[in-house]
Amino acid sequence: MTIAARALPTSLSLEGKKVIVTGAASGIGRACAFAAIELGASVLVNDRDSLDEVAVDLRAQGGDVETLQGDLTEPGFIDKLIAKGPIYGLAHCAGILGRTPLHDLDDPRERFMETMDVNVRVPVDLGIALTDHMAENGGGAIVMIGSVAGRTGGTSLSTPIDYSASKGAVHVVIRWLSRRAVGKGVLINGIAPGPIDTPMTVGNTTIADKLPTGRKGRPDEMAWMVMMLLTPAASYVSGAILDCNGGSYVG
Ligand SMILES: NC(=O)c1ccc[n+]([C@@H]2O[C@H](COP(=O)([O-])OP(=O)(O)OC[C@H]3O[C@@H](n4cnc5c(N)ncnc54)[C@H](O)[C@@H]3O)[C@@H](O)[C@H]2O)c1
Repeated sequence: MTIAARALPTSLSLEGKKVIVTGAASGIGRACAFAAIELGASVLVNDRDSLDEVAVDLRAQGGDVETLQGDLTEPGFIDKLIAKGPIYGLAHCAGILGRTPLHDLDDPRERFMETMDVNVRVPVDLGIALTDHMAENGGGAIVMIGSVAGRTGGTSLSTPIDYSASKGAVHVVIRWLSRRAVGKGVLINGIAPGPIDTPMTVGNTTIADKLPTGRKGRPDEMAWMVMMLLTPAASYVSGAILDCNGGSYVG
């Protein structure tokens, strides 16, 4: 017996909604862009790297796709993204991890400031600007990516201190922004992934053996949790940070 294809329940649909996905050229962001079009959203994908390949792949899936390549830290760039509105949702996945231990660098301050700029200041600026834009356009939802490193300090001392500090900070940013946004009809939440199999963790083979699941998470496993928090199914969730770590950290 075959089960007839059913339309998505409204609570899990993003039909007719425009969603920005940052960091969409790679890893978790790329997976979010695919999941968003599967839920019926039109997507505006951003990355500082080329988006040509992901745009071709998304369109091959029937996705309604716009691209805006550029560095989110550049002054005025966030305004350019918003000018492509009205925007309903944001999956903010752009982030960096410098591999060299901070204090092995000649200029640790430079790397520290760069990590904080991308991983903390950008979420603050995006969250403020998009909350106001979404509030003027009937409300919306924002999901940002924290990390288990922001809960624990890092899976080991090999996690750079600037990265762990930035992820602890972004958890606070998510909570702060959510308080500012919720009364305006905008829900802001986050996920805190454990080690995920993306270019960010390439070469880190020791991690998987130590995890309860024996494997890293997949980008799509993060993307569906991000999507759940963007859909109307999460209409009473604000300021939450969902642990998505395969049981490696239980808070
Ligand atoms: N992979 C993991 O194990 C893991 C675990 C916890 C949290 N995270 C977080 O998830 C998010 C996505 O990570 P990923 O694993 O997919 O990494 P990734 O390196 O595969 O993708 C990150 C993308 O962000 C883009 N980016 C970086 N800085 C940018 C900027 N200033 N402007 C525009 N684009 C920029 C990069 O070009 C890249 O394409 C990051 O915030 C990361 O810290 C990842």
